[in-house]
Amino acid sequence: MALWYLCVLLLNVATISRSQVLWNTQLRDTSRIPSNFSRQERMATIEALKGAIQIPTVSFSHEKSNTTALAEFGEYIQRVFPTVFHTSFIKHEVVGNYSHLFTVQGSDPSLQPYLLLAHIDVVPAPEEGWEVPPFSGQERDGFIYGRGTLDNKNSVMAILQALELLLLRNYTPQRSFFIALGHDEEISGTDGAQKISALLQSRGVRLAFAVDEGSFVVDNFLPSLKKPIAIIAVSEKGAMDLMLRVNMTPGHSSAPPKETTISILSAAINQLQQNPMPNMFGRGQVKTMLQQLAGEFSSPINIVLRNLWLFQPFVSRFLEKNPITNAMIRTTVAPTVFQAGIKVNVIPPVAQAIINFRIHPAQTVHEVLELTKNIVADDRVQFHVLRAFDPSPVSPTDDQALGYQLLRHTIHAVFPEVSVVAPGTCIGNTDSRHYLNLTRGIYLFNPVLLKPADFRIHGVNERISVQAYETQVKFIFEFIQNADMELVGMPDSPHQHDL
Ligand SMILES: *[C@@H]1O[C@H](CO)[C@@H](O)[C@H](O)[C@H]1NC(C)=O
Ligand SMILES: *[C@@H]1O[C@H](CO)[C@@H](O)[C@H](O)[C@H]1NC(C)=O
Ligand SMILES: *[C@@H]1O[C@H](CO)[C@@H](O)[C@H](O)[C@H]1NC(C)=O
Ligand SMILES: *[C@@H]1O[C@H](CO)[C@@H](O)[C@H](O)[C@H]1NC(C)=O
Ligand SMILES: [Zn+2]
Repeated sequence: MALWYLCVLLLNVATISRSQVLWNTQLRDTSRIPSNFSRQERMATIEALKGAIQIPTVSFSHEKSNTTALAEFGEYIQRVFPTVFHTSFIKHEVVGNYSHLFTVQGSDPSLQPYLLLAHIDVVPAPEEGWEVPPFSGQERDGFIYGRGTLDNKNSVMAILQALELLLLRNYTPQRSFFIALGHDEEISGTDGAQKISALLQSRGVRLAFAVDEGSFVVDNFLPSLKKPIAIIAVSEKGAMDLMLRVNMTPGHSSAPPKETTISILSAAINQLQQNPMPNMFGRGQVKTMLQQLAGEFSSPINIVLRNLWLFQPFVSRFLEKNPITNAMIRTTVAPTVFQAGIKVNVIPPVAQAIINFRIHPAQTVHEVLELTKNIVADDRVQFHVLRAFDPSPVSPTDDQALGYQLLRHTIHAVFPEVSVVAPGTCIGNTDSRHYLNLTRGIYLFNPVLLKPADFRIHGVNERISVQAYETQVKFIFEFIQNADMELVGMPDSPHQHDL
């Protein structure tokens, strides 16, 4: 996913639930399968990921992807995960020619099903700058290198691997679930995720929750944060591609008018650059959340965060300085295309530009469009929305939010070093937005511990450590079993969700 990695720093949504959620563990305590794997199984797990990296399932552009590789990938997973494909209670379907939908039928139809998401396609990887060829899947110093090791074949393979290992141990689920593997996430997901979602909707499916890529367990990312923290993104920013256009009668450049299409359009863009969209730092429950996180930081940041009543303007300005943290607190405005001019001695009749907006969850497409018109404040500039979608609604994180609580519970069990699990917002976009009709609970979380040096998604030398990948498989192995537990609601819980 484009820019998914920025999710990790977006700690700006809700409060951290410190309350204890009760689980009815009786259901499976006797039959729980331990997540210990033999040496042979662990080797096969790593080899399977390497093989997946070696298939160059590249999405080149909005029209073009390597369909040969996508087809090969479909055959590959059948070969590597034979049990998944030959289990009577699992149905496999190919959707949109290259995407895959698995329906895993649970034994208890009263439990609402959930969905695990991942995507098969990757962004291109020119060889320049790579220590090993990007589609070699080579292992070096405990890391597997290659395009897709973090975005997102690790999830594709870990989900199927965990299921394969569970099935080999005669696991049968109680709660049904779906696995949806999209093949065009990097180029919008309209042939894959969108079609799978439409298919599920046509079958009347309602999901308890969905889990997709989009955030990580992060270590050392925020200044002076003492221990790793896990961020579960519970919302995605929206987006708008807006075309600005200026038309004038063409004239000769020897007697130019005072203003031309180019100068008018430039002035409009300059206005937008000089007047950024409002800072949303004070909105939502940012302050509460940062205050709750305060204890995780060392001095002096903990003091600043405990005293936001005093330091808010300072923190807010600090966040604006860095492009990544700035993107957390406001709608961003990026002019990406500018077109004008046909001949050196002709005043161009048309000048047009495209601006890419990423919309903060506290705003809507409509609000941002109106603000933009007010900032430009020039009738000669026309506005055409080329593509737009609102930010996704914020998924629940309270005691009754099954998906969030299952993730939190599993994170604490599999990553004992993690001190805090906090909700965040994703400033990129994922396939999950195509599933908004199916559930109110969409959680973006990749169970992989990342250090700043591993932050190489869409860049050169993308890699995952062998240990991190094994832990991801273990996490999903535990998560699937945890999903069979019943969440026993807090009797005095004020919120009830229609999950
Ligand atoms: C996992 O551990 C259990 C006991 O704790 C043992 O019986 C079993 O053989 C182990 N499985 C593997 C694959 O190592
Ligand atoms: C597409 O994938 C196939 C393998 O499935 C590979 O042989 C071929 O080189 C790839 N094409 C491009 C343009 O990358
Ligand atoms: C899927 O395959 C059919 C038949 O080969 C083709 O017409 C269609 O364009 C393909 N769709 C995609 C998304 O590649
Ligand atoms: C969601 O459901 C509405 C109403 O049924 C439908 O019009 C819309 O196309 C659906 N959206 C998606 C993304 O599936
Ligand atoms: Zn991705």
